[in-house]
Amino acid sequence: MATRILIAGAAGQLGSALLSEWRGRTGPHAGRFDAVGVGSSEMDITDPAAVRAAVMRFRPRVVVNCAAYTAVDAAEADEPAAHAVNAAGAGNLARACADAGCGLVHLSTDYVFSGEGCAGAGGYEPDDPVGPRTAYGRSKAAGELAVRSAHPAAVVVRTAWVYTGAARQGGGDFVATMRRLEAERESVDVVDDQCGSPTYARDLARGIAELVAVLAVRQTAPDAWPRPAGRTLHATGGGAATWYEVARAVFEELGADPDRVRACRTEDMPRPAPRPRYSVLSGGSWADAGLTPLRHWRPALAAALAEP
Ligand SMILES: NC(=O)c1ccc[n+]([C@@H]2O[C@H](COP(=O)([O-])OP(=O)(O)OC[C@H]3O[C@@H](n4cnc5c(N)ncnc54)[C@H](OP(=O)(O)O)[C@@H]3O)[C@@H](O)[C@H]2O)c1
Repeated sequence: MATRILIAGAAGQLGSALLSEWRGRTGPHAGRFDAVGVGSSEMDITDPAAVRAAVMRFRPRVVVNCAAYTAVDAAEADEPAAHAVNAAGAGNLARACADAGCGLVHLSTDYVFSGEGCAGAGGYEPDDPVGPRTAYGRSKAAGELAVRSAHPAAVVVRTAWVYTGAARQGGGDFVATMRRLEAERESVDVVDDQCGSPTYARDLARGIAELVAVLAVRQTAPDAWPRPAGRTLHATGGGAATWYEVARAVFEELGADPDRVRACRTEDMPRPAPRPRYSVLSGGSWADAGLTPLRHWRPALAAALAEP
């Protein structure tokens, strides 16, 4: 019988990539998993009764929480709204999963760190001290604690700089935006002093599916190894780049002149929420858990832009 997985926030960037990964007819997970995705209209994670009812109804082996308040700038003006979803909501889901005896993979972010660039050369490790500088980051850090406290075996997966490259209602991600601006403008100014690891949503979904397969086995055979349960893991595309370098790479992939992208500084682009200068997350914890490292960001970007 196929293993039931419940995805919260399934209409979002990562949630939809996960649904596609599990529902694909080919690949390592084909036919082994029965993935069900719910959005906020079916399961609002701020409503504990709705969360409990959905978990009881679908009876998943593992839940993946992609539901989040992700409007980083808007959160500065309404921190309680971000906390309601990212902290209290995450806690509601974790409690329901713990009570139902199902596994939980909870998504979190590089924004829990200060992003001031003092981490080791290989990027932030999961045990490095958190120090969020934004309302969004504080709400996500509080969410990690709420999840840990309600469901100690949950796996928290921090990621960063996620994109699909596809246009979406309301604007889309950075890669999609550069794709649009290449067609609309002669030149584009992009910050060259924020560094991170671009993460193709499809690659991250594949990695999370691999992790969930491990957890699903563990649910039926608790002594099975590998045992990532109860850990915080970091998962991003390999390598690192600045937004300027990513934008140039997008132009190159589109066959456009990358010199149309001009470097600027963070101070030139003021935003309500301060942006981390350094968002690189080390892949060491992911590899140590026996999971396949996500590919380097550059070939991943080429693959994303080659999608029809
Ligand atoms: N995108 C990135 O660059 C990035 C970087 C680091 C970490 N992350 C983390 O990765 C996870 C997935 O992010 P994403 O980029 O896929 O976000 P996204 O595209 O903004 O999707 C988030 C989803 O959460 C749902 N949601 C919001 N409030 C909800 C509620 N009260 N109850 C249930 N669902 C709710 C929304 O669904 P409805 O439309 O149905 O309301 C939306 O589809 C999040 O935890 C995020 O913090 C993302």
